[in-house]
Amino acid sequence: MPSSTPRPFRPSRLLQSIPPYVFWDLEGRKAAHREAGRTLLDLGIGSPDQPVPEEVLAHCTEAIARRELSRYPHFRGHPELFGAFAEYAAERFGIALDPTREMLSVAGSKEGLTEVVLAVCEPGDVVLIPAIYYPVYVRATQLAGAEPVFVPFRDDGSLDLDAIPAAQLARARVLIANYPCNPTTATLDLAGVERLVAFAQQHGLLLISDLAYAELGFDGYRAPSALEVPGALDCTVELHTASKSFCMASFRVGLVVGNADVLNALDVYRTNTGYGNASLPQIAAAAAFRAHTRIVPPIVAEYQARRDALVDALRAGGWPVNAPRATMYLWLPVPDGLDDWQWVEHCMAHHGVVVTPGSAFGAAGQGRFRISLVQPPEQLREAAHALTRAASGVLA
Ligand SMILES: Cc1ncc(COP(=O)(O)O)c(C=O)c1O
Repeated sequence: MPSSTPRPFRPSRLLQSIPPYVFWDLEGRKAAHREAGRTLLDLGIGSPDQPVPEEVLAHCTEAIARRELSRYPHFRGHPELFGAFAEYAAERFGIALDPTREMLSVAGSKEGLTEVVLAVCEPGDVVLIPAIYYPVYVRATQLAGAEPVFVPFRDDGSLDLDAIPAAQLARARVLIANYPCNPTTATLDLAGVERLVAFAQQHGLLLISDLAYAELGFDGYRAPSALEVPGALDCTVELHTASKSFCMASFRVGLVVGNADVLNALDVYRTNTGYGNASLPQIAAAAAFRAHTRIVPPIVAEYQARRDALVDALRAGGWPVNAPRATMYLWLPVPDGLDDWQWVEHCMAHHGVVVTPGSAFGAAGQGRFRISLVQPPEQLREAAHALTRAASGVLA
C-alpha cells in the first residue's frame, strides 16, 4: 500500500483568522508566573467563587436518581426549567412567556448567543456590537461569516445608535446589547432599553439582549428585561443564565427566550448539531429560578460588600473609581503611559495580582482594565493596596 504523506491537522483557515481567546491567553501567562514560583491573587476571569446555593444542591441530589433524566434530554429544554423560568419572568419582570414557543435551554449564554448568531446570520450580514464587548459577540459573528460593526458608547454608557453609518445599518441584521454591561458596568433603566427595542423595530433588526448579570444589581438597582417593552417580542431574544445570578457557572445552563421565529431557527440549528441541553443542570437551574427570592439576596449582598471594600481601598490609594450599580466588576483606567497588557503583566509579575486588560474587550477598551469581585472583601483590600503600589511603581 502506498503511504500518503500525513497532512498536519490544523485549525481551519476561518479559525486561524480569529485571535486566541483572551482568557486562554491569560491562563497561559498565569501558569508561567506560577511555575516561576509566584503566588497570584486571581481577579481576572469573572468566575463566581461563592458556593452553589444549598437549596439547589439538595434538589440536584434528589434529581440524580430520577431515571427519566438519564435519557436523551428534550430538544428544546426540560418542562421543569421552563415552568420555573416562566414564573420567575412573570414575578421579576412582569412578562408572560409561552414555554412551548418562546423558551429554549442552552449550555450557558456564551454558547447560546453564538448559536443564535449562527442560526440567523448569513455571510455579508452586519452584526452591530457594542464597541467594548464580551468577546464572543465578535467571535460568533466571524464564525457566521458576518461582519462586526462597532457601536460607540455615549458618556452615560448607553449605545450611540445615531453613530452607526447608514450603509452599514442597511446591511445590519442583528444588534447585540449587554446591560448590565461586562466590562464597563454600565446599566440602563427601562427607558434606555425602550430605545434599543424601538431602534431594532425601526430598522428591522433582531435585538439580542444579553442579560447575563440580570440579578447582580446593587443599592436596590434591578436590571430591566428588554422583553418588558411592549412589542419587544416581535424583534428580541434575551439570554438568561444560572452562571452569575446563582453562582452556577460550571453547570452550563441558560435560556434563550423571546421571539418564536428566532427560537425556531435556533431549534433547527441545535437539532441538527446536538441533542438538547443536559437535563440535570436544567433541573438544578429550575430549582434556582424557583427559589430566586431566597437565593439571590445573600449573593448580591456579598458582591456589594466586596464592591464597597474594593472601591473604598482604591479611593484611599488615589484611584478615580465610580462604584458600579451592577455586575461583578470594576472598570478602571490604566495608570498613565502604560499599555494595558504591560500593566497586567507588571501587576502579575511584581505584585501578584491578576486583572484583565481592557483590550480583551476590543480596541476601544485599550487604556483600561477590569477587576472581578471574585474574592472576599479582605483579599480585595489587599489587591487594592497591591495595585496602588503597582501604580506608584510604574509611575515613579
Ligand atoms: C456579558 C456576558 N454574557 C455572557 C457570559 C457567559 O455566561 P455563561 O456562563 O452563561 O455562558 C458572560 C460571562 O462572563 C458575560 O460576561
